[in-house]
Amino acid sequence: MRQPLVAGNWKMNGSRASVAELLAGLKSGINQVTAAEVAVCAPAIYLPAVQADLDGTSIKWGGQDVSAHASGAYTGEIAGSMLADFGCHFVIIGHSERRAYHAESDQAVAEKFTAARAAGLVPILCVGETLEEREGGITEEVVARQLDAVIAHCGIDVVGEGVIAYEPVWAIGTGKTATPEQAQEVHAFIRGRLAASSQAVADGMRILYGGSMNPKNAAELIAQADIDGGLIGGASLKADDFLAVCSAANR
Ligand code: 13P
Repeated sequence: MRQPLVAGNWKMNGSRASVAELLAGLKSGINQVTAAEVAVCAPAIYLPAVQADLDGTSIKWGGQDVSAHASGAYTGEIAGSMLADFGCHFVIIGHSERRAYHAESDQAVAEKFTAARAAGLVPILCVGETLEEREGGITEEVVARQLDAVIAHCGIDVVGEGVIAYEPVWAIGTGKTATPEQAQEVHAFIRGRLAASSQAVADGMRILYGGSMNPKNAAELIAQADIDGGLIGGASLKADDFLAVCSAANR
C-alpha cells in the first residue's frame, strides 16, 4: 500500500510575511489530513523559516532544485548537503520549468537525482510532455526517455528511493488539467516502464500528478489506481486550498 503524498511547489512566490501566514494556516489545519504525507517545497531562501515553523509538525519540507555537485566553485548553486542542513526531506528534480528555462538536459537531471540521494534527500523526479509532443503522439516516448536517463545513470534501486511526478507541461499553470483518464494512462505507462527493470520498485513507487490540480479535481485524480498524490503549484499558495487537496487523499 503506497501512502499518498501531496507536495506543494511554491515556485518563486512569497515573502517573509506571506510564508509565515501560509505556514500558520497549514499548521492549524493539518489535523484534517489523515491519509496523505504532506510537504512544501519552498524557495531556498525561506527554508530556514520553514524549518523553524514546521519542526515538530507532521509536515515535511524540501527544496525546488539542487546542484549536481557536492560543493565548490559553483556560484549561485545550492548543494544537497545544504538542503539537508536545513531539515529538507524532499527536493524537486527536473521540473519542466528548469528543463525549459535553464536548459536542464536528461543527463543533468539524472546527475542531480544522484546528488540528492547522496545527501540523503528524497528526489521528486518530474517528467512530462509538452502540448506539441502530446499532439504529435509522442507522450510515452518523451516520458520514457526522461525516466530511462535517470534509471541508466542511477540504477533502478536508487530511482526506487525517490518519487516520480508526472506533470504534463500543457497542464501547468494553465487551468487545463489532464482528465483522470489521461493522467492514469501515463501513470500506468510509467509504472510499467519501472516494472521492466524491477517489479518491486514499480509496486512501491509513488507517482504524483501535477498540473492545475486543485480542491475541485484532486479527489477524482487521486482515486485513479496509479495516481498516488499530487505536486501542487498555484493551489499550494493558499492554506485552505492546499489542505483541501491534501484531504482529497483521505479515504
Ligand atoms: P500548477 O498547479 O500551478 O499548475 O503547477 C503545477 C506544478 O508545476 C507543480 O510542480
